Amino acid sequence: MKIGFLGSGNMARVLGGAWSLAGHQITFGSRDAAKSREVAKGIGNGASGGTNDEVAESCEVIVSSIRAVPSSFLTSTSALTGKVIIDLNNRDFPREYKPEEFLNSLAEATQKDVPSAKIVKALNNQAMEVFNSDAVALKEAGIQAFIAGDDDRAKQIVTELLSDIGLKAIDFGLLSNAWLLELQADILRTYMFATGNFLATPGFIEAPRAEPRFGERRKGTY
Ligand SMILES: NC(=O)c1ccc[n+]([C@@H]2O[C@H](COP(=O)([O-])OP(=O)(O)OC[C@H]3O[C@@H](n4cnc5c(N)ncnc54)[C@H](OP(=O)(O)O)[C@@H]3O)[C@@H](O)[C@H]2O)c1
Repeated sequence: MKIGFLGSGNMARVLGGAWSLAGHQITFGSRDAAKSREVAKGIGNGASGGTNDEVAESCEVIVSSIRAVPSSFLTSTSALTGKVIIDLNNRDFPREYKPEEFLNSLAEATQKDVPSAKIVKALNNQAMEVFNSDAVALKEAGIQAFIAGDDDRAKQIVTELLSDIGLKAIDFGLLSNAWLLELQADILRTYMFATGNFLATPGFIEAPRAEPRFGERRKGTY
């Protein structure tokens, strides 16, 4: 398939590389066609480079790897009519980012309410149905539980308690990160209500460790 990338950055390069090895015909786009040609040359395998307009025109499936809407950098979006566009963009996520409505997590409110206690956010992302399974079954399934808290010893105790019921604790750092775990519960519950499946739990599945096939991460976005 003719797969075209709007943009020639990190994600375009590694995905273009991977899809080209899978037999697809890859075109990279850029504001600077010399740059996208250079990226294409690095990938080889018949990959080509050009402008973003050329990509929009010539490719069947378009991957937008530019954190901006197409009309802001294409001469015209008419070439995209009827085409599949994969949008892999994320908005900027500076570390201090915290939307107003999450300013106070329930966990932080409890910590504020009882300053002398050691609050650990945990187990808010496991529906009660998860515990229909025993510790052995949950451990075998590799179920994780994300935790956050300010006191290392308290987190250690919680980690051991989670282990006792078959869950692997994953440390999300300080209690100021608890809002993310509470937000995650919103994502999880959205899925649960949409599907009726209350057995879903969040967890990290790590990709296998390997040397970069298409070059190291260069300065760019995440
Ligand atoms: N890197 C990751 O691990 C990762 C993972 C998942 C999702 N993402 C998301 O994927 C997107 C791209 O990430 P990346 O790491 O590939 O970024 P990157 O290496 O910085 O590449 C971004 C591309 O966007 C283009 N660009 C930037 N501003 C532009 C503008 N105003 N008009 C037109 N083109 C513009 C640049 O094009 P030129 O060639 O014209 O300079 C560059 O090729 C981001 O939204 C990011 O959040 C990244």
